[in-house]
Amino acid sequence: MPTLTRDVSLPLATNKHLLRWVEKMAALTQPAAIHWVDGSAEEYDSLCADLVAAGTFTKLNEQTWPGCFLARSDPSDVARVEDRTFICSLSKDAAGPTNNWVEPFEMRKKLKGLFAGCMRGRTLYVLPFSMGPVGSPLSQIGVQLTDSPYVVVNMRIMARIGAPVFAEIDKEEKRVVPCMHSVGRPLAPGAKDVPWPCNPDKYIVHFPETREIWSYGSGYGGNALLGKKCFALRIASAMARDEGWMAEHMLILGLQNPDGEKAYVAAAFPSACGKTNFAMLVPPAALAEQGWKVTTVGDDIAWLRPDANGRLRAINPEAGFFGVAPGTSLKTNPNAMAALYQNAIFTNCALTPEGGVWWEGMTDTPPAMCTDWQGKIWTPEIAKVTGAKAAHANSRFTAPAAQCPTIDPDWENPAGVLIAAIIFGGRRATTTPLVYQTFNWSGGVYAGATMGSEMTAAAAGTIGQVRRDPMAMLPFCGYHMGDYFRHWVKMQHRLAEVPRVFQVNWFRKGEDGKFLWPGFGENLRILRWIVGRCQGRCRARETALGWMPRYDDLDWTGLDFPRERFEQLTALDPKAWRAELIGHEELFLDLHSHLPKEMIFERELLICRL
Ligand code: OXD
Ligand code: MN
Repeated sequence: MPTLTRDVSLPLATNKHLLRWVEKMAALTQPAAIHWVDGSAEEYDSLCADLVAAGTFTKLNEQTWPGCFLARSDPSDVARVEDRTFICSLSKDAAGPTNNWVEPFEMRKKLKGLFAGCMRGRTLYVLPFSMGPVGSPLSQIGVQLTDSPYVVVNMRIMARIGAPVFAEIDKEEKRVVPCMHSVGRPLAPGAKDVPWPCNPDKYIVHFPETREIWSYGSGYGGNALLGKKCFALRIASAMARDEGWMAEHMLILGLQNPDGEKAYVAAAFPSACGKTNFAMLVPPAALAEQGWKVTTVGDDIAWLRPDANGRLRAINPEAGFFGVAPGTSLKTNPNAMAALYQNAIFTNCALTPEGGVWWEGMTDTPPAMCTDWQGKIWTPEIAKVTGAKAAHANSRFTAPAAQCPTIDPDWENPAGVLIAAIIFGGRRATTTPLVYQTFNWSGGVYAGATMGSEMTAAAAGTIGQVRRDPMAMLPFCGYHMGDYFRHWVKMQHRLAEVPRVFQVNWFRKGEDGKFLWPGFGENLRILRWIVGRCQGRCRARETALGWMPRYDDLDWTGLDFPRERFEQLTALDPKAWRAELIGHEELFLDLHSHLPKEMIFERELLICRL
């Protein structure tokens, strides 16, 4: 078993604010030991070995899944907990009606009680991380104090961590975001630990004014890997508003044409709309032969900032993918599969008798038997009777982005990549056409603000009912949504040239209930039109919503796609749009006191045009 020769209790930074804070938090949480994380490979190996010994990790077959581990969480700790997520701004009004709010003084008192002695019997890890390449002017730094070694090893994949980040902190050039995290399960002396410690009482708390995160009770995903949703979206969205940039729930991809010219787009989709697949799109054979290529910069979060020339540049603040496993296969996303077969951590996937992982949708034929995400025997026959899933619906892979075959050569460029277009998309069986370009920036903000997605059977609520999820940021915006729209509108004044804004919908259905659009790689045809529009190379027709391609404006090489079906995909149904506009109004009523007037005017214009 690999052990560390270094004395991990020795501080790896000299920054006195950091040292004092660690001391203060250790006095509060009373850990048995402190471990300063250097981020080295030996440290990672040693922590993974500890996790195997603790029963949290199972080492996978080294031949078929080299360097991979499987973790099974507690069945009560399997997803982000939106109802336990709080934005504790000084005023309730600043958090807005779409966030849970508690008065900050009251919340601090609560947290102090929860964190008092909460790390007893455990090790406190001092985990410095950089969101974005270390030293990039677009990056931000955080330090997470956590009692979860599972979090440390996942964060090593998801962010840049360790010694180089401590060196940045010692320079004292950047403000550091303090992130407190505990699984909330102190260990009594001599008590045996459980494989997945957590607490039924969970608090995921953000203080946007003081830029702090406190997370208690969960070890899972966005609740615990605090660089991701908590920092890179909720806290960063508030920082971005104050500093004139944007923190968005967006993938970033590059489209390269046969002449080798490349353009980048950023795209926001709510959960379960194929964001990771789009970010790693495999062009249809006929177009790949012509030389069209898609490259991946990021699959979940984009930080965008105007450069010295007033053009918008973006970085992916993350270093890995924390992807939903079910549905990922060699057919749906071969690039994700190539990224995750080695040096990855799997959580709540099924374990095969050969020491590999499996999930629903990975292969057409399921394994004859496996161990499910709760450690029970699972067979296709049992599943037929009980409906039990081998892998949890929110089971995940944590994989290094650098392992993705389509990773863009500029994905770590400290200056970011130039964004030509912004794309919004939801899951809509009706109403929303395949694609349109909004007339201008504020029309684009309107399209993003009113975007919605139909609820699936997996979520509580009426199936097919549209949930408004503005810019896919509903659970991730650290302040009032109305102010967020205003910030978007105002970004235009900071830019000499705004990206063009588009809305797409891959999910429109025909009268037979079947998808009209094949999606996946064929989305490249739409992406080409989008980039072509930005470059003035593609034609379009004006509609009430914006500019739309005619059938002949798309390249259909290698796809026999009926013209009538395209007409169905792009049709505007006046009755459906009437209902849609009422839906927009409902959202606006909720946000009315902070809604920028551009949104009201855009709605009026749309009504007139329709
Ligand atoms: C995610 C999410 O995990 O959006 O990326 O929920
Ligand atoms: Mn996401």
